[in-house]
Amino acid sequence: MKEDITSIQTEALSAIESAESLQQLDDARVAFLGKKGSLTAISAGMRNLSKEEKPIIGELLNVARTAITDKIAEVKGKLETIADQKLIEGVDVSLPGRVLNEGNLHPMTLMRDRAIQILRRLGFSLAEGPEIETEFHCFDALNTPEDHPARNDGDTFYFDASEDGLRKLLRTHTSSVQVRTMESQKPPVRIISPGSAYRRDEIDATHLSVFTQLEGLFITEDVRLSDLKGTLEYFFQALFGEDTETRFRPHFFPFTEPSFEIDVKLKVKGQEDKWIEVAGCGMVDPAVLQQICNSREDDVFSPDKVTGFAFGMGIDRLAMIQWGIRDIRHLIDNDTRFLKQFA
Ligand code: PHE
Repeated sequence: MKEDITSIQTEALSAIESAESLQQLDDARVAFLGKKGSLTAISAGMRNLSKEEKPIIGELLNVARTAITDKIAEVKGKLETIADQKLIEGVDVSLPGRVLNEGNLHPMTLMRDRAIQILRRLGFSLAEGPEIETEFHCFDALNTPEDHPARNDGDTFYFDASEDGLRKLLRTHTSSVQVRTMESQKPPVRIISPGSAYRRDEIDATHLSVFTQLEGLFITEDVRLSDLKGTLEYFFQALFGEDTETRFRPHFFPFTEPSFEIDVKLKVKGQEDKWIEVAGCGMVDPAVLQQICNSREDDVFSPDKVTGFAFGMGIDRLAMIQWGIRDIRHLIDNDTRFLKQFA
């Protein structure tokens, strides 16, 4: 038996040594150490040995097993190194790698999403409307008379009139979504609508001809001015921090009465505090509700039944306040030195 063990060990070590692949190595392992392997078979014979022989043979078997196992590990290491080398054969590992630039969300996207998130917590849901609008949805339904300055060719981008004489335009504000929503839903209405608005403005540090607004509309029974004020104060504090100061200045919009502009106090280190206008708002004018009743041909939005508030804010302005951006044009330049700061 001793001789058998020694010869199996010798045979095994040479088989392992000459393995040329990981597969051959594993075959050798199975042949000697596997369930039906030759060393395993001999171990089974231990049962028939005398008391004196058992420890001696057992010791020999252990030595053989250890020697074979160690050899397998050694050869495996070598074969793996060879396989690795083959893998990168002909590859110049000193070549510089390809740089993958990581992107990040645009500050306008970040600001829009945060604003939506806060307003959704207050129960507002998202609504949509077209950017190419009719004069009706942009102006007439919003109680804006024919001679209102916002309707000038000089202020608004108009398309040529179609055959029926109707002129379409690029919406000058997202307030047209108020009309679209009231046309298609019934009270209670509690919506927000972020999107582009277009004006023939002179482009400078605070104006673009395409900018982003976020419209809000809340209509149900007994909505009050205090609801409007509380909602927007909460919004700006949730957005900019609890100590954010806001101010409501009386203003005029054709579609709200009373109307206000809202300023937020901008605090930039090393500069004097400055009030920045961020939104227009007010209580929905009964004339608008009446106009909606007329075009719906029902009275669910009758000013005798419901009241509401509306607001529209500039998301660009909010972003400028949030990050102390001094020039609105940075938001459309796509200069990665600027954009990377928001990663
Ligand atoms: N649409 C107005 C603007 O663009 C803002 C506004 C919205 C005012 C809703 C009142 C109510 O200036």
